[in-house]
This record gives sequence, structure tokens and C-alpha cells, in this order.
Amino acid sequence: MDYSKVFYEINKSLVSYVDHGAVASYIPELQKISPDKFGVYLCTVDGKNFGFGDSNEKFSIQSISKVLSLTMAFEIEQDTLWKRVGVEPSGNPFNSLVQLEYDAGIPRNPFINAGAIVIADVLVSKLENPREDFIEFVRQLSGNNQIDYCDRIAQSEKSKGHRNAALCNLMKSFGNIDNNIHEVIDFYFDLCSIEMTCSELARTFLFLANYGKDPINGNQIISSSKSKRINAVMQLCGLYDEAGEFSFKVGLPGKSGVGGGIVVVHPGKYSMVVWSPRLNKKGNSNKGMRFLEEFTSYTESSIF
Ligand code: DON
Repeated sequence: MDYSKVFYEINKSLVSYVDHGAVASYIPELQKISPDKFGVYLCTVDGKNFGFGDSNEKFSIQSISKVLSLTMAFEIEQDTLWKRVGVEPSGNPFNSLVQLEYDAGIPRNPFINAGAIVIADVLVSKLENPREDFIEFVRQLSGNNQIDYCDRIAQSEKSKGHRNAALCNLMKSFGNIDNNIHEVIDFYFDLCSIEMTCSELARTFLFLANYGKDPINGNQIISSSKSKRINAVMQLCGLYDEAGEFSFKVGLPGKSGVGGGIVVVHPGKYSMVVWSPRLNKKGNSNKGMRFLEEFTSYTESSIF
């Protein structure tokens, strides 16, 4: 299929779409992004690539990196990982503290902030040099050794990161954080600060569209069973308390970030990234969701 034509047609159909969303402001540096940027990129598992708009401009991937840290931690810890974090949708905002108290410090899933902080703690425990080893893993997946953290964004988030610090402290009080909370939180902010383009990110996620194997170089990144499970968690939890709506409209496993990116994978077919910085009230890209809904309807390519 000529996806370039599909992107063009959908974009044309959305010219009168008025986006009332707002750029994330709770991380001061993110507020500087021009709100009307728009990029799309799709990589097929058989090696075709299609881009549209600002698809070669870097943006802050934020929570999208939680899928990559989960991949690494799952490979290291195997199924014992699930003693410390669940796989159920939370139905609550991504940064909520409420449920964590009731659940005795065990986060509902690895994509809400609390869950991703537990994953960061696992990596701090198990990697020799967490910061270096993790970015090396992302560089390997992306096939690009220029991918990096953005210290400016990480510092900006840290300056306002009291809620994440609260989550980390609460879990520490329940015995679900092993390391020094400052070390864990700093690493978590680093993970969220990675900058990538739509094309780099779509390339990075191809292994999840191909049963755990990178179709470009043949590297088996994780087993097909783990790939299935990570996609399942994305399907149910990747868009937080909007995961049901996203599944209903788009019908693909996906993961959002407050930088305005959304990545989706269609196992056996493609990985795709949409970037549009205006967010809805749940912290997900407004136009990104709309575009993906139009895309899977137009191409009849949801998993359902
Ligand atoms: O911890 C935070 O709040 C951010 N670093 C990441 C949140 C995020 O991307 C939520 N996604 N929509």
C-alpha cells in the first residue's frame, strides 16, 4: 500500500480540524515547542518507509521510552518482574498517587509513572552503568548511535518533579524501591528526556511489530512471547486512563508521551509514529489520536 498517499489524504481531510489541546506545561522546557508541529512516519516489517510533515524533527519522547526500559528490564528479570509491577490498566491519570496506597506500593502497570519508576529501579540495580547501558540499547534498536538524552529537559523536569519523587518515596516506604530514591528518579527523568524523530522512533519499535526480532538486521531482541506481552500491556495501558478510548478508536497497541508522540505497532505489518504536541486532558496527543483513528479506518488495518 502507498502509505504516503494515505497520509496526504488524511491530512487533507483534517484541514478544518481545530485542535483545542495544549502543549504540556508542567515540564517548563516542553512548553517551548511549537504547538502545531506535525509529523508521521511508518516502517513496514518488509523494509518500506513512509514519512509525512515534520517526521525528521527531534522531539522529547517522554513516556514512550517506558516501553524500551520495560523491554530491557523484562529481559533481565524474566517473569519475576511481575512480582513488583502489575499488568492491569489503572483507570487513573499517569501520575496518580491514589491507587498506590491501596495497592501497597505495587503499581498497576509499567507505563504509569509509578510502574516506570519501579522499572528504573530494576535497571539501576542490574546494569553496571544504567545511563550509558540504556542509551546504548536504544542506539542499537534505532540503528543510530547519535540518539541521546537531553539534559536540559531532564533538569527541567527534575525542577518540578515533586509528584514523581512522592511516588518513589511512597513505594520505597512499602519496600518496592531498592536503591537511593534520588538515583532512581534522576535515571527516570533521563529516560524520559530522550529525543528522537518520528522516523527514528518508528525504526526503533520495529522489533515489536516483528515478534521481537529486528527485521532489518535479524537480531532477536526479545522472544516472541515477550513481544506479545509487551504489546498486550501497551494495548491495555499504553494511553493510561484513555487506553480504552484509544483501543476503541484506533485498535492497535500504542504508547503516548507528553512530548506529543504516539507510537503504535501492528504485529506482522508495521510500526508507526505520529507527533503533534497539543495534548488532551489525559496527556495524550489530540491530533495524533485522531490521525491514527482515521489511518486504521482508512487502511482497515487495526488488529481487530
Ligand atoms: O513523569 C512524567 O510526568 C513525564 N516524564 C512523562 C509523562 C508522560 O509522558 C505521560 N504520557 N502521556
